[in-house]
Amino acid sequence: MDMRAVNSLNYEEFIDLFGNVVEKCPQIAATVWSKRPFMTTVDLETSIFELIDSQPQSGKKGILRCIPDLAGRELQKGTLTAESMQEQSQAGLTSLSPEERVNLQHLNSLYKLKFGFPFVICARLNDKSKIAQELAARIQNQPEQELHNAIEEVKKICHLRLQNIHFASTVRPS
Ligand code: GUN
Repeated sequence: MDMRAVNSLNYEEFIDLFGNVVEKCPQIAATVWSKRPFMTTVDLETSIFELIDSQPQSGKKGILRCIPDLAGRELQKGTLTAESMQEQSQAGLTSLSPEERVNLQHLNSLYKLKFGFPFVICARLNDKSKIAQELAARIQNQPEQELHNAIEEVKKICHLRLQNIHFASTVRPS
């Protein structure tokens, strides 16, 4: 990514480009825009992570509550964001057997009931069986530990989404 070009974006353009690096939280990009100039993509990522970490518990839970369930209602309805669709599809969640879907949806409901936010895992770094396994394991955690785990997964998702933007903007067809 050409950081000079990024640093010259007005806030509308910046939000267009980075508004979904944290799922459905354009306010993150809108806030971080004020931290320009960024020297590198890592610098931009650090600003985003610092902003996330600086949120109170309620703010972190708010970030998580904007994220759709894996293999959930929005996937069935076809209303996922392009990024989430790609991630869920890559993890094999668009081709679940009926039994696998019911199992995941059941565990997702139990998880949400216990923690008050959806189960978040970096889908691109896991496949459907690992996701189901992690969900069953993480549901046993204490709430504070699980809030921490979920936010760390948000950062992994964000990192990969930023890399995608970087790749799309630097690789040009010859
Ligand atoms: N991991 C990567 N993308 C997503 C998503 O859209 N939802 C959840 N819950 N986890 C994810």
